[in-house]
Amino acid sequence: MSPKIAPTINAHGAAIPAVGYGTMLFPEPERAVELILHALKCGYRHIDTARKYGTEQWVGEAIRASGVPRDDIWVTTKVTEENATADDFARSVDTSLETMGLDYVDLLLIHWPQPNVPLEETLGALAKAKRDGRARHIGVSNFTIPLLDEALAKTTEPLVVNQIEYHTYINQDRLIAACRKHGLLITCHAPLARGAMLEDPVILEIAAAHDKTAAQVALRWLIQQPDIGIVPRALEFSEIEENIGIIEFTLSAAEMDRIGELRHRNMRIINPQVRAPVWDDA
Ligand SMILES: NC(=O)c1ccc[n+]([C@@H]2O[C@H](COP(=O)([O-])OP(=O)(O)OC[C@H]3O[C@@H](n4cnc5c(N)ncnc54)[C@H](OP(=O)(O)O)[C@@H]3O)[C@@H](O)[C@H]2O)c1
Repeated sequence: MSPKIAPTINAHGAAIPAVGYGTMLFPEPERAVELILHALKCGYRHIDTARKYGTEQWVGEAIRASGVPRDDIWVTTKVTEENATADDFARSVDTSLETMGLDYVDLLLIHWPQPNVPLEETLGALAKAKRDGRARHIGVSNFTIPLLDEALAKTTEPLVVNQIEYHTYINQDRLIAACRKHGLLITCHAPLARGAMLEDPVILEIAAAHDKTAAQVALRWLIQQPDIGIVPRALEFSEIEENIGIIEFTLSAAEMDRIGELRHRNMRIINPQVRAPVWDDA
């Protein structure tokens, strides 16, 4: 199998492979390492993890086992909202690096906003991780437009990414426009809406026309938009291969528009009551 290497999306000196591999809700350790290793063998050069997922150790193990040079792999991890104070944040970053056995991550994100800790304090700790060389780039996740405005006004280092839920069944036009206006890239989490669109007749029809699967069409629709990357999770080798295969075909402008119309469903999948902010209106 010859590895398929995805193109990058770029901002502030960061070059992020547009197709990454998500590692949330993963199986037992041995299988987890096998899956991540398979992704690296297929050509994925971007792995998405988080302290919260409990997968950092397996990411580190798979990277070492792969033989792919560390500098060729983009590793993202995140600090949870439970660790938003400066001291807790720094400890969380140290633990992440130690658990992965890495000297640095390529991208460090604030996983969710924390209304009970001043954003300035968390951003200060995030920027310090970058200045100390523990993170090459920094950003946020699940930040709404007002939160993004506040973060951009207070950060001392460029924010490169907002990782948000985006897929064919949710309209994020306003938030994406706000990110682009400020030079932030977007990484889409839950890019398959955990499978919600895989039986959609429009997607199936377009998939048949290209001899591709519904998942490939839904994912291709995302990365064909400017400044957008994805981190789908897949627990089957065949799905891992399928998902990186989306770099090999193109949707027409009419197909892009047709799929875009499905967003009126506004189906939000990731909405934990304990930590979700008040979301932007579509
Ligand atoms: N920042 C955040 O707050 C946040 C929140 C959620 C997720 N994330 C990140 O985003 C990643 C992806 O999100 P997610 O895991 O929630 O959802 P997702 O990627 O939208 O969906 C994963 C589901 O899609 C299925 N799937 C994957 N590829 C497929 C294919 N080619 N054909 C058919 N089904 C396929 C998987 O099935 P199988 O289980 O059978 O493989 C899995 O059930 C996470 O792993 C995590 O890294 C971040």
